[in-house]
Amino acid sequence: MKGLILAGGNGTRLQPLTLGMSKQLLPIFDKPMIYHPLSTLMLANIRDIQIIIKEEHLGIYKKLFQDGSHLGLNISYAIQNEPRGLAEAFIICKDFIGNDSSCLVLGDNIFFGHDLQDNLIQSSKLEEGAIIYAYAVNDPSQFGVVEFDENFSAISIEEKPENPRSIYAVTGIYFYDNLVVDFARDVKPSERGELEITSINQAYLNQKRLNVQLLGRGMTWLDAGTHESLLEASHFVSTIERRQGMKIACLEEIAWRKGWISDEDLEVISLKMGDSFYSSYLSKLLLQK
Ligand code: TTP
Repeated sequence: MKGLILAGGNGTRLQPLTLGMSKQLLPIFDKPMIYHPLSTLMLANIRDIQIIIKEEHLGIYKKLFQDGSHLGLNISYAIQNEPRGLAEAFIICKDFIGNDSSCLVLGDNIFFGHDLQDNLIQSSKLEEGAIIYAYAVNDPSQFGVVEFDENFSAISIEEKPENPRSIYAVTGIYFYDNLVVDFARDVKPSERGELEITSINQAYLNQKRLNVQLLGRGMTWLDAGTHESLLEASHFVSTIERRQGMKIACLEEIAWRKGWISDEDLEVISLKMGDSFYSSYLSKLLLQK
């Protein structure tokens, strides 16, 4: 399975923070935002990853991740200069996807919780159809909204409805078989001029091949698209990390725990980071073995 991260967009709601900077590089407490969606793909054991960004940000993303090999990953970059919608990811990354299935994560989405890793690994084994996740939210009309029948099978999906039929929002992680490339090609722009991911989900739903899984209230799903949510996400990560003494979305730790990089590799990364808390955290991991 191939992994895609959408890290383009204008980040209009976060202006002026995003005037000179890619939104997904803004800090969530102690790391750039994009560490979160990247860690989500890594937790799912997805190692072939394409990051979709604006051309003007290519240099800075390459500086951050290079080709990903220091994390045991294979990272490449694709360009989307205008935010023409989430579904465009599958058009832009068609060659990268090839004949594979794919998992798309939004660059400003944060997932955290018990069993998340097992759940993601399970979904990454998808061979046919689609798996998306729904999560109860306070303000469903800002999202794609799923309506379920009494057996919790999805019966409708609407993009940002004025009168939502449920409290369940579609989260920013999507697993699709290879048909997604064809579905994306056929999507027509919505009224707001975007190629909507909801149109792709609708196509799978029409074919009765859409599996919508509920993320329970013990799970956390945040996005960081507004000043308030950016601050809340930072507080969330800082609170958990301080309490547990363990980091959320520490890419080097995940790669090391999965055996994709060695003790020596981790030590080299830690040394390169110099005198920082992040560096001491990585060195401590080696001592706690
Ligand atoms: P949004 O938050 O919907 O869009 P945005 O980041 O441009 O912010 P704003 O609405 O304030 O202008 O996008 C969700 C994520 O998807 C975010 O990480 C940006 C990314 N994205 C793209 O990479 N390309 C796109 O065409 C769109 C619509 C979003």
